[in-house]
Amino acid sequence: MGSFRLMYRSRNRIPVDERKAELGDLFTGARRFNKEAGISGALLLHGETFVQLLEGDESAVRSLYSRIETDPRHDEVELLEARDVDDAVFRRWAMARVGDEGEADIRLIAHADGVHPAAPKGTTPEQDAVLEEMRAAVRARA
Ligand SMILES: Cc1cc2nc3c(=O)[nH]c(=O)nc-3n(C[C@H](O)[C@H](O)[C@H](O)COP(=O)(O)O)c2cc1C
Repeated sequence: MGSFRLMYRSRNRIPVDERKAELGDLFTGARRFNKEAGISGALLLHGETFVQLLEGDESAVRSLYSRIETDPRHDEVELLEARDVDDAVFRRWAMARVGDEGEADIRLIAHADGVHPAAPKGTTPEQDAVLEEMRAAVRARA
C-alpha cells in the first residue's frame, strides 16, 4: 500500500538535565497523536542530533511536520527527504525510539565514527535500509 515518507534532521535543544523526562513526554504524546492520525515512523536520538522519519498520508504527514518544525525543543530543522514510497516500513510503530540508550525500541551502538546497528534483530531489511539512511544523516553532520 502506497505511503508518503518525510525525513528531517534537527538539533536537540532540551537541557540535558530535563531530557529524560521531556523525551518521555514527547514520545507519549507523539504516539498518541500518530496512532490516531495513521502516522508511523522512527525518531533517532544521538548526542545533540535528532533524525525523524514520518510516514503516512501525505497531507497528515506534512501538517504534522509543519507543527514539529516550530517546536522550541529543537532547531536547525533540515528537510532531507519527502516523497511517495511503496510502503510505510514502520507501520507497527506509532513512533519507534532509535538510539543508544536503554529505552530504545531499536538499539544502536555508538562508535567513534558514528552509530552502528546493534545485533540486527527484530527489524526487516526495509527497516534496516531506512535506519541506515538515518544513521548516515547523523554521520553527515557529526
Ligand atoms: C524531535 C521532535 C519530534 C516530534 N515528533 C512528533 C510526532 O511524531 N508526533 C506528534 O504528534 N508530535 C511530535 N512532536 C511534538 C510536536 O512538535 C508538538 O509539540 C505536538 O504535536 C503537540 O502540538 P501542539 O502543542 O500544537 O498541540 C515532536 C517534537 C520534537 C521536538
